[in-house]
Amino acid sequence: MPNPTKPPHLGPQYAAQFQDPSVVSVYHLRPPVPDEVMTCLTALLTDAPNSRVLDLGCGQGELARPLAARVRSLDAVDWSRAMVEAGMRLPGGDRLNLRWITAKAEEAPLSPPYDLVTAGQSLHWMDWDLMLPRLASVLSSAGLLAIVDWDVTPPPWADALRTVIQRLSTNRLYRPYDLVDELVTRGLFAPINRRQTEPVPFGQATADYIESLHARNGLSRDRMGRQAAQAFDRAVSRATAPFEDDGHLRLATVGVVVWGRPLAPDVPGPGGPVAASAIVTTTPSGGVSSLSVQHSPVPSGATKQI
Ligand SMILES: C[S@@+](CC[C@H](N)C(=O)[O-])C[C@H]1O[C@@H](n2cnc3c(N)ncnc32)[C@H](O)[C@@H]1O
Repeated sequence: MPNPTKPPHLGPQYAAQFQDPSVVSVYHLRPPVPDEVMTCLTALLTDAPNSRVLDLGCGQGELARPLAARVRSLDAVDWSRAMVEAGMRLPGGDRLNLRWITAKAEEAPLSPPYDLVTAGQSLHWMDWDLMLPRLASVLSSAGLLAIVDWDVTPPPWADALRTVIQRLSTNRLYRPYDLVDELVTRGLFAPINRRQTEPVPFGQATADYIESLHARNGLSRDRMGRQAAQAFDRAVSRATAPFEDDGHLRLATVGVVVWGRPLAPDVPGPGGPVAASAIVTTTPSGGVSSLSVQHSPVPSGATKQI
């Protein structure tokens, strides 16, 4: 079967927006990672304190910094120097076992083998045909790739927000998609299991919530231009106003972790399609018996604009 072309709205020209100063400076306002995501990732490591982990598209280290405290070593790779530099200054960013690498993950200098590769809201931006076979070659024989996403549960103003994003996003090519389906279709990933976390409520000042949206795909202030950004802010203010309480919004964050084996379709043997399909059929629980797995139809993060 021919390998379909990667959707054009996920091209590197859009991935590059995470180098924009306007995105980097408000990135910390995006929804917090649920603790349960970290628990799930740790549970995927059979010998957590001795594990070696690679975090792809680490950004400011939302996953890498807390995970580094639980493992032997963690290599955190991101294409955006500005994101990495911000992460180094955040709590846990100076841990000795945390190695920050500024490079495209497809070509970054790595130190395999890794017991776990994590990709938080980032794998969709990479060159899948290069990245997944590369991951197959750097994972240990029992190592796993965990594709991680988290976001707010749909707020009451979700429809209005979608409309204004469609009108003003700089990513005119965007269309909904599911990252795991895209990878499976291409024979690049064999999922083993998934876990969706319980929603964790949090409050956020409306002004910060609006800024957090400018840290997302297509909404970088640097690219939108002043007029469009102001029109966006006004429209979101109008949409959220009925739900505001003393200048704050009530939100909840929920995470999804899908773990499995990356595949190198052209390479027979470990990491190739034969080994990976054996994993899928023989370990339906992913070998992580302590995790309760739910299959409710929550979108994988890749269906939205992140
Ligand atoms: C939405 S952010 C996610 C950051 C972090 N993992 C998190 O969840 O907070 C996506 C990140 O992927 C990075 N990225 C995009 N393409 C990349 C590539 N080819 N190699 C490495 N990093 C990349 C961007 O620079 C950005 O920091």
